[in-house]
Amino acid sequence: MFIQSLCFLCLRPFRTLETTPGVPMQFRKGLTSVQAHVDVPEGLFEEEYARNGFFGRTSHLYRSQPPVGWTDIDGDLRPEALRVLDLAGLGEGGYWKGRVAFLENEDVVISLTMLREAMPAYVRNADGDEVHFVHKGAGELETDFGPLNYEAGDYLVIPRGTVYRYTPSDTTSLLIVEAFSEVGIPDRGMLGRHALFDTDVIKTPDPAPREGGPFQLEIKRLGRITTVTYPFNPINTVGWKGDLTVWQLNLRDIRPVMSERYHLPPSAHSTWIMRNAVICSFLPRSLENGDPGAMKVPFFHSNIDFDEVLFYHDGEFFSRAGIEPGMVTFHAQGIHHGPHPKAIEAAKTKTFTNEKAVMIDTRNPLQLTEAGRSVAMADYWKSWM
Ligand SMILES: [Fe+2]
Repeated sequence: MFIQSLCFLCLRPFRTLETTPGVPMQFRKGLTSVQAHVDVPEGLFEEEYARNGFFGRTSHLYRSQPPVGWTDIDGDLRPEALRVLDLAGLGEGGYWKGRVAFLENEDVVISLTMLREAMPAYVRNADGDEVHFVHKGAGELETDFGPLNYEAGDYLVIPRGTVYRYTPSDTTSLLIVEAFSEVGIPDRGMLGRHALFDTDVIKTPDPAPREGGPFQLEIKRLGRITTVTYPFNPINTVGWKGDLTVWQLNLRDIRPVMSERYHLPPSAHSTWIMRNAVICSFLPRSLENGDPGAMKVPFFHSNIDFDEVLFYHDGEFFSRAGIEPGMVTFHAQGIHHGPHPKAIEAAKTKTFTNEKAVMIDTRNPLQLTEAGRSVAMADYWKSWM
C-alpha cells in the first residue's frame, strides 16, 4: 500500500524532495474531484498514482473503469494470497529450520513458525534484527535482558545479537520479519510523539538470571548455524541499563488515528521502521462517517515504489473478500491495488471496521520462495472480477 517517505539512515520519516527535484508543481485537467478521496465524480474511479510511498510526486487519475477490473493476468505480477499456516515444516527440524520463509528480498525475510514446546537450545541471530508478531498462542520469551510473558497480538522486537528462547504454554504461531538493519519506531510527525502509542506502553524485560546447564546456544550468521556449548545457563544477566533491548508491544496498546471526513493513508498506521521497509498495524476503528462524500475504503492506487504484504490476524477484513485470519496477501509494485467490488458496496452502510492486520511494505521487490509458492491460492487475482 502506501507509506511515508523514510530516511533509512536516521530511521526517521523525512519529507525532503528525494524524488521531487525542483519546485513542487500541480496540474489539473478534465474531470476531477477538488479534494482527493472526497466527492469523486459520479461513476468514476479515483486512483492515486504516487512515488516514494505517497510522499513524493503524486497524481490522482479519474477513470471510467476500475484499474483492478482485469479479465486476465499472465505473469509474475498476479496478486497472491498465501495460506501460510499450511506451509510444510512449520516448527520442525529445530528452531531455525522451522521458520519457513515465504517472501524475501535483500532487506527483509518474512517467515512463519509454529512453536509447540520449549525450545531445547537458546538462539541468537547475528544476521539481523527480528520483529515477531504473535498470531496465536502464549508463553514465555526468555532473553538476555530477562523474560517476557507473551500473548496473541504482541509484537516482540529482538535486536540482532540478543540471546532468546521460547517456552510456549500454548501452541504459538509467529509471523517473523527478519530485517538486515536496525528496527526502530517511526517519527509521528504532526501527531506528536505520544500519538498511536506512548513509548511508555512498550514493555521491556526485568533481569531474571536462570540456572542449570549445560546449554547450547545456536547462533545464525550468514544463514549458517554455529553451536556453542556452555556448562551454565547463558541467561545469567543480573542487571542491565541502556537503550538497546527487547521490546514488547501489544496491538491493544496502539491507538489508531482516523478522520471523520478523510480517508487517511496507511502510513498513519506505521508501527516499526527499518531500512527500506515499514510495518504498519491496521486496527479496529470508526470509518469516515462524517461526510457522505468521503471514501471509506482504500482508494485504488499505484504505489509504484513499494511492494505490499498483509498478514490478516483477526476480525473481518474490510477491503478483501474471502480472506481469513492467518492468511497473507502479496501485491507487488507495478500492479494496481484496490478494494474488492463487494467491499465498495459494503462500505456504503458500514460505520466501523474491526480488522486487525499487519502490513509490511518494502521498497525493494520481494520474491516468493518455493515454500511461499506452494501455499499460494490459484485464483486470488480473479477475486476482483
Ligand atoms: Fe496497497
